[in-house]
Amino acid sequence: MRNQIRQAPPWRSALMTALVAVSIAILPGFASAGDYPALGPLAAKKAPKSALVEMGKRLFFDARMSGDGAISCATCHHPKQGFTRQKDEDGKPMVLSDAYPGTKHYRNAPTLINTIYKADFADAGWSWDGHMGANLNDVVRNEITETMILNLDMRLMHERMKQDPVYVKMCKQNFNGECSSGKGRKALVAFVQTLVSRDAPFDKGKLSKAAKRGRKLFEGKAGCIQCHNGPYLSDGKPHNTGVDENFDVFKNPLRHITLRAVTTNHGVPKADIWRRDVGYFLVSKNYADVGKFITPTLRELKYTAPYMHNGMIATLDAVVEFYNQGGGHDDPLATELKPLKLKAKEKKDLVAFLKSLSSAKPVTVEPVKVPQKYKPIANWASTHN
Ligand code: HEC
Ligand code: HEC
Repeated sequence: MRNQIRQAPPWRSALMTALVAVSIAILPGFASAGDYPALGPLAAKKAPKSALVEMGKRLFFDARMSGDGAISCATCHHPKQGFTRQKDEDGKPMVLSDAYPGTKHYRNAPTLINTIYKADFADAGWSWDGHMGANLNDVVRNEITETMILNLDMRLMHERMKQDPVYVKMCKQNFNGECSSGKGRKALVAFVQTLVSRDAPFDKGKLSKAAKRGRKLFEGKAGCIQCHNGPYLSDGKPHNTGVDENFDVFKNPLRHITLRAVTTNHGVPKADIWRRDVGYFLVSKNYADVGKFITPTLRELKYTAPYMHNGMIATLDAVVEFYNQGGGHDDPLATELKPLKLKAKEKKDLVAFLKSLSSAKPVTVEPVKVPQKYKPIANWASTHN
């Protein structure tokens, strides 16, 4: 069913065959670490001004930054859940993100940790498919105004900040002027920029023996480095690894309508009959990009399960098994993927290496309690399931 309308242009299969033949001819055997940007520590970045970070942090937790005052950035990028979302209010596992009250999202909320580095690596753009803009300020503006996310008009954001003496003071302190939505966005960006990995064993050069063996596999036999390379462990490019569709997106009308809205708004042809998440095709409109997603970072994975754009893989062991089988099922699948025939011990070693890329203690902040003088316009909780 998922490949229902994959009308590959006839030239493509010929081209793919030629490309595969050429790449096999010039790349015999396994990937070699030397061919790709080396893994290494993240570059030091200038820390934003702390007063600006404080202002951004307050906005991050402030439900008035959503149209109806019910949710904030932290609702979907939770500071105690790896700045993604793994459990709902009742502690039940969450695979796909929530969305603005009254609807639901069709993607797994990505972590915000280390997104400051995306500008250095992701030439294809932010979000799982790159549709959300090319810099953090664009993305933050999108998140605020997008109807399925915070659904807040920039003029309302401006007014709400102006009416709160705390923001008035913060705007004076940081900008020596009146509040505006643009200043609010700058502050939010500054806060997000502080969310970075700190003490990962990988960065401290403290890999266990198993992790060291795992790194060798990662850079060699398992070929992960072909796409997960450089300090961010991402080439920033879209690839099709063939992750299964999450059918909850099609069974749950609230999720489906969100997917349909985004695909329609982005001018995807025949938006109403696709039975799959089209991925990078949304951006490029090139049929060869259907099902491609931008290589995510592999940092902080310990704290950001479940994995993949639609949360379809629950654990790191399962991710490694997925790649061991040569990825998922799609046509054309990324040519870099092939069955790896890893032994049980090698799979464990790879997982140990992946875990070494996470900070020893989770990156988090204490939530700011922002007093809310009014209640959301409706009790959405009851209509939200
Ligand atoms: C209702 C849930 C929700 C809220 C609220 C929300 N986000 Fe997101 N955010 C998401 C989802 C889902 C994605 C991925 C969208 C996609 O891939 O299509 C995302 C993506 C992002 C990204 C891109 C990350 C990357 O690696 O490319 C950033 C940055 C971000 N959000 C920041 C914010 C900020 C800052 C706020 C508050 C102003 C916010 N988000 C509010 C759900 C939410
Ligand atoms: C062809 C390029 C490519 C290769 C090779 C590759 N990956 Fe990936 N990886 C991706 C892409 C693209 C995604 C996102 C797919 C999606 O969301 O549907 C991903 C996702 C992941 C994730 C999930 C991250 C998250 O935050 O959800 C992990 C973990 C991962 N890869 C590990 C590996 C390991 C380990 C290897 C080697 C065995 C490997 N990858 C090889 C491109 C690649």
